[in-house]
Amino acid sequence: MAEIRMIGLPSGERVPALGQGTWRMGEDRHRHADEVAALKLGIDLGMTLIDTAEMYASGGAEEVTREAIAGRRDEIFLVSKVLPSNASHGGVMRACEASLRRLGTDRIDLYLLHWRGGTPLAETVGAFEVLKRDGKIRHWGVSNFDTDDMEELAGIEGGDAVQVNQVLYNPGARGIEYDLMPWSEERGIPLMAYSPVNQGSLAEDRRLAAIAARHGATPAQIALAWVLRRKGVIAIPKAVEPEHVRRNRAALDIELDAADLAELDRAFPPPRRKQPLAMI
Ligand SMILES: NC(=O)c1ccc[n+]([C@@H]2O[C@H](COP(=O)([O-])OP(=O)(O)OC[C@H]3O[C@@H](n4cnc5c(N)ncnc54)[C@H](OP(=O)(O)O)[C@@H]3O)[C@@H](O)[C@H]2O)c1
Repeated sequence: MAEIRMIGLPSGERVPALGQGTWRMGEDRHRHADEVAALKLGIDLGMTLIDTAEMYASGGAEEVTREAIAGRRDEIFLVSKVLPSNASHGGVMRACEASLRRLGTDRIDLYLLHWRGGTPLAETVGAFEVLKRDGKIRHWGVSNFDTDDMEELAGIEGGDAVQVNQVLYNPGARGIEYDLMPWSEERGIPLMAYSPVNQGSLAEDRRLAAIAARHGATPAQIALAWVLRRKGVIAIPKAVEPEHVRRNRAALDIELDAADLAELDRAFPPPRRKQPLAMI
C-alpha cells in the first residue's frame, strides 16, 4: 500500500487526504468497543485525521474519539466543531473547554463552525483567534459555507486564517463544482468532503458497480476515489465495519482513468448552473 497522500493547509501544515468521520458514533453503548476499534484500525492504516463534533451523540462521539486516540495524541490531527447556537464569544469558549474535556486533550488541531447561525461571523472568528492564542486550538475553519459565506468571511478581519470548508461532496452531490470548488481552489483553501459515500447509499449504486468491477473494487471505493481525485479535497468517510475501514484506505490508491471519469459524468452529471449548497 502506498504512503498516505498528504494535503497542505493554508498554514503550510500537511494533513492526510483521507481521514475518518465519527457521526453516529457514541450513540449506542453496545457498539462502543467496535467504534473505538474501527478508529484505531484507521489510525494504524494512516487515517490519522479524525473528524468529530460536539453535536454528535451530544458529545458521545468525542468520547469515543478520546478512547481511540489515547496514548497516541501526537499522531492525530483532531478536528471538532462548535454548534452555531454556541458561536458567540462566550459560547465558543465554553464549548471548546467541554470538547477538550471529552476528547481528553489540551488542544484541538482544527476547530470548525459547524454551520452558520445568527451570531455575527466576526464574533466567532474573534473567539477562534483567542482560542488559538491560548493554545486551545491550533487552527480554525468553517463548515457548510457557500461561496457568498466564504466571500463574507474573507472580508472580515482575521477571516483569511480559515483553513478548510467542510461540505457535502460525493458523486450524487456535485453542486459545489460550479462555483465553491473553483473559488476555494483559487485561494488554496481545501474542501473537506463529508458523506463521501452518501451515508452508505452509494455502496449499493449500480452505476458505480460497473466501474468498480473494472478495478476489482467496490462501488463505495469508487465513490471515494472519485472524491479524492481532486487535489484540494480531504475526504472523511465514517466506517465502523473493519472491512469498510480497510477498503476506504485502499480507495486512496485507486486511479480512475479518463473513461471512468466520463462514465461517472454521464451517470452523475456535473452542475451546469449555480445550485444552493446542499447540506445533510
Ligand atoms: N459538517 C457537517 O455538517 C457534516 C455532515 C455530515 C457528516 N459530517 C462528517 O463526515 C463524516 C462522514 O459522513 P457520513 O457519516 O454522513 O457518511 P459517509 O461517510 O458517506 O457514510 C457512512 C456510512 O457508509 C458506510 N460505509 C463506509 N465506508 C464504506 C465502504 N467502504 N463500503 C460500504 N459502506 C461503507 C458506513 O458503514 P459502517 O459504519 O457500518 O462501516 C456508514 O453507514 C461524518 O461521520 C462526520 O464526521 C459532517
